[in-house]
Amino acid sequence: MSDTTTIRWEQDQDGVVTLVLDDPTQSVNTMNEAFTADFEAVVGRLAALAAADELRGVVITSAKKTFFAGGDLRMLSAAGPGDAAAVFEKSMRIKRALRTLETLGKPVVAALNGSALGGGLELALACHHRIAVDTPASRIGFPEVTLGLLPGGGGVVRTVRLFGITDALLKFLLQGQQYRPAQALEHGLVHELVDTAEESTARAKAWIEANPTAVQPYDVKGHRIPGGTPATPAFAANLPAFPANLRKQLNGAPYPAPRNILAAAVEGSQVDVDTAMVIEARYFTELACGQTSKNMIQALLFDMQAVNSGAGRPKDVEKRLVRKVAVLGAGMMGAGIAYACAKAGIDVVLKDVTVEAAERGKAYSAGLLDKAVARGRSTEAKRDALLARITPTAEAADLADCDAVIEAVFENTELKHKVFQEIEGVVAPDALLCSNTSTLPIGLLAEGVRRTADFIGLHFFSPVDKMRLVEIIRGPQTGDEALARAFDLVRQIDRTPIVVNDSRGFFTSRVIGQFINEGVAMVGEGVHPASVEQAAGQAGYPAKVLSLMDELTLTLPRKIRDEHRRSVEAAGGTWTPHPADAVVDRMVDEFGRPGRSGGAGFYEYGEDGRRGRLWPGLVEHFSGPDAGAGTDAGADTGAARAEVPFEDLKERMLFSEALDSVRCLEEGVLTSVADANVGSILGIGFPAWTGGVFQYINGYEGGPAGFAARARELAATYGERFAPPALLERIAAEGRTFTD
Ligand code: NAI
Repeated sequence: MSDTTTIRWEQDQDGVVTLVLDDPTQSVNTMNEAFTADFEAVVGRLAALAAADELRGVVITSAKKTFFAGGDLRMLSAAGPGDAAAVFEKSMRIKRALRTLETLGKPVVAALNGSALGGGLELALACHHRIAVDTPASRIGFPEVTLGLLPGGGGVVRTVRLFGITDALLKFLLQGQQYRPAQALEHGLVHELVDTAEESTARAKAWIEANPTAVQPYDVKGHRIPGGTPATPAFAANLPAFPANLRKQLNGAPYPAPRNILAAAVEGSQVDVDTAMVIEARYFTELACGQTSKNMIQALLFDMQAVNSGAGRPKDVEKRLVRKVAVLGAGMMGAGIAYACAKAGIDVVLKDVTVEAAERGKAYSAGLLDKAVARGRSTEAKRDALLARITPTAEAADLADCDAVIEAVFENTELKHKVFQEIEGVVAPDALLCSNTSTLPIGLLAEGVRRTADFIGLHFFSPVDKMRLVEIIRGPQTGDEALARAFDLVRQIDRTPIVVNDSRGFFTSRVIGQFINEGVAMVGEGVHPASVEQAAGQAGYPAKVLSLMDELTLTLPRKIRDEHRRSVEAAGGTWTPHPADAVVDRMVDEFGRPGRSGGAGFYEYGEDGRRGRLWPGLVEHFSGPDAGAGTDAGADTGAARAEVPFEDLKERMLFSEALDSVRCLEEGVLTSVADANVGSILGIGFPAWTGGVFQYINGYEGGPAGFAARARELAATYGERFAPPALLERIAAEGRTFTD
């Protein structure tokens, strides 16, 4: 027997065949066309050997770092509605081959040398026995749903039959969990754990020896799906709750994948395996040919890879790791940044005005780690090692030889200048100097340091331990070396860096401000506030817009707005107010409701600070007879009070952010579409189904031209802020997308 291109065939004297997956064209194995054809051929040969009784068993493993990476997403992301037949057939080819493999009548063992995700796990589940090598980087699971897809190689059919509908949905399919090998063992995805690849193949052969005629549990006569099916009365009684729970979780946002997964699981459970495979393939095809999966694959896979691999990093600067970082300010952000750095193995000196304050900052890490240990996600030893890397202090002298500084003191220019003056002479003479400011211009802050070329913005998001994004802000004087080093530091602490140029609010804070303003403006138009919140949820935003505004407090954006207005007017420019401004002013000045921290905002808050209902006064004062009293609220929106179509509410939120992103690109604040797509999803909650701010425009019905036409409509009804910027008009006219 000879090898195929992507699969090596090794046959031993006992008649055991080992298939070594090793696609020479890529660093990982995927279900591309070459693999599919090879796999069909190999399975055909195995079947012939089995029929001739010359096969003892099969071991499947890989020569790559990972076992198998999954589907051919390049192919899928190019598939349009016209490709449905081809996509369906591709799914069926894989299914047929896997089905033949598991019904050979011979034992087949998966020796998972590394991660088995998506198609890799589907391949493994078609084996009778699964052995995983316990490496720290290995992950096992079905991430398809996070890319708007479902496992179309029998993953739904097999998990339902092996684990029951409920567990299959909740543990494996609907959330895209990626398990470490030990967790996969606990959940029954694999049967054994070993330490090395050699051990895994040896164990595989031993298992084959002991199980000469392996059959899948669901191919044994009388097999019942654990936990029941719609045909089982107890299960059937609970069934109506499934779609209801799903809707609740999704908040009405347009994610088709969970719905199709649920349907494939439930419908497939009522028929035989082969029919269930066809049902799964149909639901898979619908997702693969639809727009949402394309959007999600573009942003969360292709753009994410581009961003993380350093598309925005100056190329000719040598990579250098940070050994010891000074974190200035041990408040909410400083404490989180210290944790993230120490977790990555970097020594941290955490400085605040008193040792007690610095120690409180360190205690934050201890709290997170204690929780992780209690949940079995970390060990005492790891916890102690991480904490030993954080040194709390109030003395500048303790920062000697730190090779990077991250400042996170109060948001105040003079204070920030002062703390940098205190430490610049103490840290390493070429230390990277970063500020975590969320609003202050980097150029302005750089005036407080001597080495302005080494000064840069490093904008973390809260809570730092959960948020993957860091926005790197290049000031007018920041050098290439500092930019590259900042980029490397962000990667070193396992975060995703986007790079933007200095400007008011940078990219993320500026663009999310448009979303909030738009929601607030709707209140001023007399739209019921509950509808405003519902629109944000149904558009797919993780946070409701008015509740978000309350969290930020109404006074903070107002202060920033007023400063901005003064600077525009001082420069002789004309300030265009946003319709939201008047609402915010009335809320603060007339009604004394500055947001959550002030105990009252768009929502009511209990004594304990817990959020209650939307403030009934909103309806009374903004849509009742005295709406707009004393102000010109709503006067320039042109919208009929309370008669705004619900679809418009959702689109106004999405459009306001996408259009401002185009302006950011036009103005050079953004230099990369990929950065914006990734940053908008990871940093500011732009709905993932869109693929991010620019992919939303690319994927809008009619592409950028369709988007521009709709923007003009919105501008005619709601105001000039929706008018398409020149760059959008140009791209639309050229028939391109922002990604071409
Ligand atoms: P915070 O108020 O929780 O912490 C500030 C800390 O700085 C306090 O512990 C304070 O004692 C300390 N501090 C003050 N003067 C100091 C000095 N001279 N030397 C050393 N430490 C000093 O503030 P938070 O929320 O952590 O914010 C810090 C910075 O991060 C601000 O610039 C803020 O704009 C920015 N930021 C905040 C985000 C948030 O969500 N809170 C998100 C992103 C950035």
